[in-house]
Amino acid sequence: MSWSGRHLLDVEGWSESDVDRVVTVAEDFRVLSRGGAVTYLSNTHVALLFAEPSTRTRLSFEIAARRLGAKTYVLDPGSSSMVKGETLVDTVRNLDAIGFSALVVRHHRAGAAAVAARYFGGTVINAGDGWHAHPTQALVDAFTLRDVFGQTGLRGRKVAIVGDVLHSRVARSNVWTLTGAGAEVWLCGPAAWVQGLESLPVRVTTDCGAALRDAAVVMGLRVQKERMAPGVSLSEYVRDYQVTESRLMRTAPESVYMHPGPINEGVEVTREVARGPRSLVLEQARNGVPMRMAVLSLLAVGVGATPEMLEPALARS
Ligand code: CP
Repeated sequence: MSWSGRHLLDVEGWSESDVDRVVTVAEDFRVLSRGGAVTYLSNTHVALLFAEPSTRTRLSFEIAARRLGAKTYVLDPGSSSMVKGETLVDTVRNLDAIGFSALVVRHHRAGAAAVAARYFGGTVINAGDGWHAHPTQALVDAFTLRDVFGQTGLRGRKVAIVGDVLHSRVARSNVWTLTGAGAEVWLCGPAAWVQGLESLPVRVTTDCGAALRDAAVVMGLRVQKERMAPGVSLSEYVRDYQVTESRLMRTAPESVYMHPGPINEGVEVTREVARGPRSLVLEQARNGVPMRMAVLSLLAVGVGATPEMLEPALARS
């Protein structure tokens, strides 16, 4: 389990209490998320190596690290020596030598964060690697759902994850945290996008109506237009899988809607749902900062927030 080590690379194998621990620390940090800062990481230099585009993850890590007192440095591979052919391994070895103590990595290759962890002396956090894992997004989602359903409220509830599951690191990481919390997880999409998932502890279906029926949570995934599979057309996808208010009213009228972003409104979900009263999308974005504060503090310092630590910051904020 990751908290006993230096890195956060995946949430596969995490227990419910592992997730609870970090969610509880994130709840403590939430009181700081609109202002105030602490100095826990004041001697820490955090490198953010994002080899794929990102808005939410990168910026929330940056704010989180700064609110903990760390200094942050963004390494854009497009303007780094990686353009000149320097490998990920050599880049990481040099970041280590320069003196960074934490490295947040997003990369298009599955396993890239694990490779970085082998060559970096400090803490490595996976901010999304290929189709493999996006552990902090799954933790943000667990945190967001805790607000809606309470600590044990997902037990026995149905969660439907709909869309391009095959290419989704968010779906894979959510499978582990959601099933760990006792939810009944359904993965749904066109056949080409739900193949090869049989080993996961979930129900897999191409039938959107069956997936959504009585779901407490519907989680959309971005339809990655650049990865449209043979046999999946955009118009057929919209017809058969788009999450619409009328579809939800027929099948899961009480459900909440989640999406990690970025959203293609009008493709995987309608604007009415994405921006409507059942949507938790902006809550997920909002919760990204305190959750990433929790992750950074637990990994880099080994402890979460304490009342003693928060008190002076609260007095200032
Ligand atoms: N959810 C998520 O990973 O969004 P970004 O790609 O904007 O970081």
